[in-house]
Formats: sequence, C-alpha cells, structure tokens
Amino acid sequence: MGLVRIAALNLFIFLVSGENENDGITCNPNITIRDGTITLSKGGEVGSILRYICPFGLYPYPVISRICRRNGRWSLMRNDHGRIISKAECRAFKCPTPSIEQGAFFPSNTLYAVGDTVSFECDDGYSLWGSKSRTCMINGRWNGTTAVCQDGLDSCPNPGIPAGSMKSGTNYGFDDKVKYLCLNDLVLIGSNERICLETGEWSGSEPVCQHKYSFDLPEEVASYFSASFSRFLSESKIDSQVTEEDESHGRKLILGQNHKLHIYILLDVSGSIQKEDFKKAINALTTFVTMIKQFEVGVNYGLVMFGSRSCVEVNIAHDDVSDSDSVLQILPTLKYEDITRYSDAGTNMTGALKTIFEMMVLKKASMKDKQAEWREVRHAIMIFTDGRNNMGGNPKPMMDRIRNFLDIEKVGEEFLDVYVFGLGNDVDTDEMNSVASKKNNEKHMFFIQMEDLTTVFNSMLDLTSVGNLCGFANKSLTVSDQSSFPWYAEVRSNDNPEFRCSGSIVGDEWILTAAHCFEYLTEGNINSRLIFVGASGKKVQLKIDRVIKHPNYNLTGKVEMGIWEFYDYDIALVKIKSKLSFTTNIRPICLPCTVGTSVALRISQTKPTCTDHEEELLPTLRTVEAKFIQKIQNHELKNVKIKTGASERALCEQDATNAAIYVNVSNVKDVVTDRFLCTGGSRNNPEAISCKGDSGGPLYIQKLYRYIQVGVVSWGVVNMCEYSNLPHHARDFHINLFKVLDWLKQHLGNSTRFLDQ
Ligand SMILES: *[C@@H]1O[C@H](CO)[C@@H](O)[C@H](O)[C@H]1NC(C)=O
Ligand SMILES: *[C@@H]1O[C@H](CO)[C@@H](O)[C@H](O)[C@H]1NC(C)=O
Ligand SMILES: *[C@@H]1O[C@H](CO)[C@@H](O)[C@H](O)[C@H]1NC(C)=O
Ligand SMILES: *[C@@H]1O[C@H](CO)[C@@H](O)[C@H](O)[C@H]1NC(C)=O
Ligand SMILES: *[C@@H]1O[C@H](CO)[C@@H](O)[C@H](O)[C@H]1NC(C)=O
Ligand SMILES: *[C@@H]1O[C@H](CO)[C@@H](O)[C@H](O)[C@H]1NC(C)=O
Ligand SMILES: *[C@@H]1O[C@H](CO)[C@@H](O)[C@H](O)[C@H]1NC(C)=O
Repeated sequence: MGLVRIAALNLFIFLVSGENENDGITCNPNITIRDGTITLSKGGEVGSILRYICPFGLYPYPVISRICRRNGRWSLMRNDHGRIISKAECRAFKCPTPSIEQGAFFPSNTLYAVGDTVSFECDDGYSLWGSKSRTCMINGRWNGTTAVCQDGLDSCPNPGIPAGSMKSGTNYGFDDKVKYLCLNDLVLIGSNERICLETGEWSGSEPVCQHKYSFDLPEEVASYFSASFSRFLSESKIDSQVTEEDESHGRKLILGQNHKLHIYILLDVSGSIQKEDFKKAINALTTFVTMIKQFEVGVNYGLVMFGSRSCVEVNIAHDDVSDSDSVLQILPTLKYEDITRYSDAGTNMTGALKTIFEMMVLKKASMKDKQAEWREVRHAIMIFTDGRNNMGGNPKPMMDRIRNFLDIEKVGEEFLDVYVFGLGNDVDTDEMNSVASKKNNEKHMFFIQMEDLTTVFNSMLDLTSVGNLCGFANKSLTVSDQSSFPWYAEVRSNDNPEFRCSGSIVGDEWILTAAHCFEYLTEGNINSRLIFVGASGKKVQLKIDRVIKHPNYNLTGKVEMGIWEFYDYDIALVKIKSKLSFTTNIRPICLPCTVGTSVALRISQTKPTCTDHEEELLPTLRTVEAKFIQKIQNHELKNVKIKTGASERALCEQDATNAAIYVNVSNVKDVVTDRFLCTGGSRNNPEAISCKGDSGGPLYIQKLYRYIQVGVVSWGVVNMCEYSNLPHHARDFHINLFKVLDWLKQHLGNSTRFLDQ
C-alpha cells in the first residue's frame, strides 16, 4: 500500500537513515499542481515523498510523485521525452487512435478526447464484428469491443488491432502467430503474442494498450471479473461479456458435481499502508467472501499478507479454518497493528507466491486419499497490490512452478485463474501482466482504487451477471416486486378476463404450471392462453409452443365415485417458442434433484442423490417453512408451513373434506393422494392461503440466498379471494415435485441437468 517504491528508492532511504546527517534540511513544501492537490510524507524533510493527487478522471503530468533529495530539492520532473518540466498539471486522458483492416473509421484523428465517438465500417465482402461505434471513456479507453472486419475464410477470425496497438502477422491459419506492440508510451495489458488454436480461437487474451496511469471503472471491473469468476459458480452456460453484435463467445462450462474451489488471496501490505487502507481492504475482502458464500459452491480459502516477508493468515490446508464462515470470522480479527511486522518497504511477490505454492503442496498432501477430488479442484489466485515488486526477483518463474504443480498444461487453463488487482497508480504493469491469466474474451488484470473495491464486489451480485443460475432473487426482504420472485409467470386467457393462473420459470424455454389451468379451452386452443413474465409495466408476453400436461392428470377421472373434480397430477409444462433472456426480473427457480440445486444446497457429499435433496428440503419431522406468491390479491410472498410430519400431515389432509365439492368424500385419500403437499392453518393456527388465480404458481423453499421449488399450487379448501386478506384456517394442496420427477426429467432433461438418481 505504499506510495512510490522502487528498488533505487529503498536503497536511497537506507543510505539516508544510515548516515543520519540530514538534520535541518527540508524541501519546500509549498508545491502545487494545476487542478490538483498534493500530499507530503514526513513533512518535507529529506526522503519524504510528494504525491500529486488529481480529481477523478485526470492524471498528474508529467510524474505522479517526487522525493526530497539531500540537497533540499525535490527530484526533477521529466516528461516521456526526457525534457524537464517545471510545473505539474492534471491532465485528462485521451483515447488512442483505433485501427481496422479491410475497413475504415470516422472521424480519423490521432487522439480523441473523452466523449468523442468513432464509427466503423467494413469493405464489401467483410462483415463487422465488435462494436460499430465506440465512445472514448473518462479513463482514456474506448468502450465496447475492438471492431474487426471478417471474411470468415481462415481457421481463426481476424484477431483485430486494438486501439493504440500495432499488429504484425496477417495469416490466421492453424498455428499462425500474431504479435502486438503498443504505440507511443502506452502499456500493454493482456497477450503480446497470440496463436491460432485448433479450436478456431486465439490463445491468450486480447491486448489492451493504455496510458500508464489509466484505471478501470468499477463497473467495468465488476462485469469483467464476475463474468470470468462466475464460471466457478454456475453449473452451466454463462454468457460472458459479449456485445450484441457477437454472441459467439458465450461459453459453456460444466462443473463436476463435486467440484471445489480454492481461492488464494494475496494482500500486499508493504510500504506505507495506512490504517484506513487496511480497513478498506478487509472490508472489500469481507464483501467478497460474503458474496461467494451466497453461491454456496464448496470454497476453501488461503489468505496471505505480504511485504518483504509473507504471513499466512488463513491456511487452506486446514479445512476447519479455511471455509467461508471461518474466514468471515477471521477477517475482522486481523489488526493493522499486527501487520506492521512485515509491512516494511519491500514487496516480495515471488516470496508471496512461494507461500501459496507451499500451501498448495500441503493441501494436496492432506487430500492424498482423495486424489480424484483434488483433480476436480479449481484454483483462483487473487493478488491485491499497489506497489512495485522490488525484492525476490521476477515472480513469473514462481507462477510457472505453480502451474506445473497443478499440471495446468495438461488439465486445462480452466483449472487456474490468476487475477491481479492493481491498486493506485504505481503498479509494475509489465510484471503483474506477466503473472495474470490471459484467456479469450476475459480480463484478469484490473487497475482500481482501494475505495472502489468494495463496490466492485458488491456489484458482482448484480444478478444479470450470474448467468442462468437458478433460484437467485433480490435478497432484500423489503422488496415485494418481481425481482424478489423473478420466476413468477402469469397465465391469462384472451377470451375470459376473469381467468387467472400462475406459473414458474424453470428454464429458458419452460414454464411450470398446473394442468387445470389448461382445462376447458375453447376448442382446445392453447393460444387462447397468454403467458406473461417480467416486472409489471415491462411484462413480456411469451408465445406458447406446446403444453404438456402430466399424462396421469384426469380431472373427471373419479366422477363415477362422486368426486366431481380430481386434481391428482395437476401439473403441466409449457414450452415457449423463443428462449428467455434472464434479467433481475426474469430468472428460473431451482428444481429438486438437479445439479443446480445440489450447488444451491451446498450438499457436501461427493455425489448427492435425489434422496439427499428430499431429506434436506422436506424433512419429515413436523413442518417445513415454505413460500408461495400471492400475486393475484397482494403481489407478495406468503410464508406457509408444509406439513411433513406424519400426524401434522394427516390432520392437514383431513380438512380436505371441508371443501364444498368434497363434503361427501369418506376416505380423504381418494382426493388427497401421495402426490400432494399440504399447507395452511387450523382454527388456532391460521396461515396464509392461496387465491384461485394463484394455482399453478410455485411453492418453494428458501435456503440461505437460494430458492428451490418443491410444489405446484393446485387447489384449496377456501378461495381466499372471496374473503378478507387475513390468514385463514383452511388448507391448500400442492403437487409435490419429488413425486413427478420422471416426468420432469423426461421433458426438461435436455435443458436442465438432473441427478442420475
Ligand atoms: C506558496 O507559493 C505561492 C506562489 O508560488 C506564494 O504566493 C505563497 O505565498 C507561498 N506560500 C507559502 C506558505 O510559502
Ligand atoms: C459507449 O458509450 C456510449 C455513451 O455512453 C453509449 O451510447 C454506447 O452505447 C456505448 N457503446 C457500447 C458498445 O457500449
Ligand atoms: C522473498 O521471499 C522468499 C520466500 O519467503 C525468500 O526466500 C527470499 O529471501 C525473499 N527475498 C528477499 C529479497 O527478501
Ligand atoms: C434489491 O432491491 C432493493 C430494494 O428495491 C434495491 O435497492 C437493490 O438494488 C436490489 N438489489 C439488486 C442486486 O438488484
Ligand atoms: C378420464 O377418466 C374417465 C373416467 O375413468 C375416462 O372415461 C376418460 O377417458 C379419462 N380421460 C383421459 C383423458 O384419460
Ligand atoms: C353430497 O350428498 C348429498 C346427499 O346425497 C347430495 O345432495 C349432495 O349433492 C352431495 N354433494 C356433493 C358435492 O356431491
Ligand atoms: C432431447 O434431445 C434428444 C437428442 O437431441 C432428442 O432426441 C429428444 O427428443 C430431446 N428431448 C426433448 C424432451 O426435447
């Protein structure tokens, strides 16, 4: 967390304090910078550091800091051409000129100011990939993605020429290479050389040429980091950062059911880290761990603080202290006062990586009976640093050693991600870039201010970036709108305004509802039913492709017994015509016995079974807390108790005969089969009761931050809509999804991964 730390500087400080004869000599503290302010360490005596601070979006020119020399003068300021500059100023970033082959861009300047826009077009016969138009952002970088003209003739697409770079190599066949250089004084982040792979993709990541003091906007970091990181957290397809023009980069990643994630956090506490900075770092890490915990993948952490020496705060090899909960307990106990023992001027990145390496070796040894499990582990290293690595040499060889140990060449790049968060403006870009991962369409190196880190990790929770993870909703208990139950679907009729039903989104082309919602259709016309999803005011109408009722559903199946309506197997799936794109208001809920639910429940067995899910979700002790959406009347979530214990269940079911149509039923099991879950209250214990239009909606269970559907609302003893909004002593019956799994699997098996058993 230091200011300026370069090897020469440390040496200088050492000599000065060693000689101890600088008494009385000070540099003039009355130094200004146009449009900015300064900070001074040690009040201007010899060795103190003057730092220029500019407002957001500006950077200090020509230097960021100066040191008080023994002659009582501040070190000289030189620009990039070596000329001495007498007065510093805060300058705005400029965007470098873009470049495009087989195309053109307008307007054509050498540099562009913040807010300028360029547009691209391609010669005939070429199609444009990337952004057609880009705007220069406040950090001196273009928004959107590099525009490239493609003819589609080679094994790999034209990799393009990022703004401010020069590309050499024009052959894009298998094994061909392209190389990049940054123009002027721009620094290169990403790969300076890329090879066309057999897969038709370029190796590494697209280079970015940026000003050495440029920074990432927190929202950019959040979206890139979470797009990359969420690969760990989802069991299926994640749409990474893609522009509308190019959707081909959406990637698929299937994690094993028993996958584990090891996260190694390296926090640079060298140099002049202030108490405030330390607190901010701990806050940011707490936010991060809390966030990851919500995804409930199995995570173990290693936490290392380092300066010239490294200190292990959390050892990943010790299972009992390295899970999320333990780390959340340890973080607040870390004291600024304690870190001063290794927070001297040095930054020994190699030493810190070696500490990680040693932890990995220990961890692997501790899993020696579980080698198969070890091979499933994915590793993420997150380095937070604000200074120059000035001890221990180039960290790249140590990173290579880690890669070799994990056998990354063989098992695949997806098993290791190295993220570097450069804090402040004095990070050694080249060296850090050399250890950060480079993956196609991903970013692993970020420049950001310490105070923005917490924002970054908080906005990772932006649910638009969690792919199609099931059962995620706005956890804020106060929201009662669609974002708190984004899976809610409404079923209406175009010829009967009175008709209402509900449903739930269970995949990007599937709605789960009650079969009776498709009863009595005029001439069997399914298109007389209309389905809506999304927030009110922004509702999306879905086109129905087909309706699949459970084959055993037969409303009139027991008419001969005097049971005029029989709701056994009252469940249906509606396939919609075009795939849904998920947003904060449109998301799927989790279904039992799916891989997604195993992840959400964080079941620790290696191979969780459907029985494990049932025991976790519907234990047969007494009652289980659940929710349904009383959309029709109140638009809100209602809490109910599923009666799962034998006697509770029997009492609940017996009340079915209070329903007007069942008054003559002698054996309640004739109407309440094993397929039903029973909720609702008795005279002394009233509970929320559904309305008629709530039928087809989900009955679901909250597990920490995730939601899993266990039932479909079918029928009730009393239609609440006809009564007041008070809880009622009446019962509701719901189709138990655990009892219709084969049917769910048969129809959803291609779009959702179900457990084998
Ligand atoms: C600082 O410098 C400015 C102009 O360079 C001068 O006007 C001002 O009096 C100085 N202040 C002090 C405290 O020396
Ligand atoms: C770039 O920013 C401009 C201005 O904010 C915006 O209109 C445009 O949609 C952005 N383009 C991309 C590709 O993000
Ligand atoms: C850096 O750390 C490593 C491992 O802790 C240690 O062996 C090495 O001596 C350190 N280098 C310096 C220059 O202190
Ligand atoms: C959740 O809802 C609250 C209240 O409406 C809102 O302030 C917050 O931004 C939402 N969070 C997310 C992640 O959408
Ligand atoms: C429903 O059950 C009744 C009575 O058993 C039978 O006549 C009818 O064919 C059944 N309908 C379907 C669709 O199976
Ligand atoms: C119940 O039985 C009585 C007497 O047989 C009959 O009048 C009544 O209609 C029956 N009710 C229903 C809902 O079947
Ligand atoms: C699932 O995919 C297989 C193979 O593509 C296909 O034969 C089958 O009909 C699909 N099932 C459903 C329910 O779409």
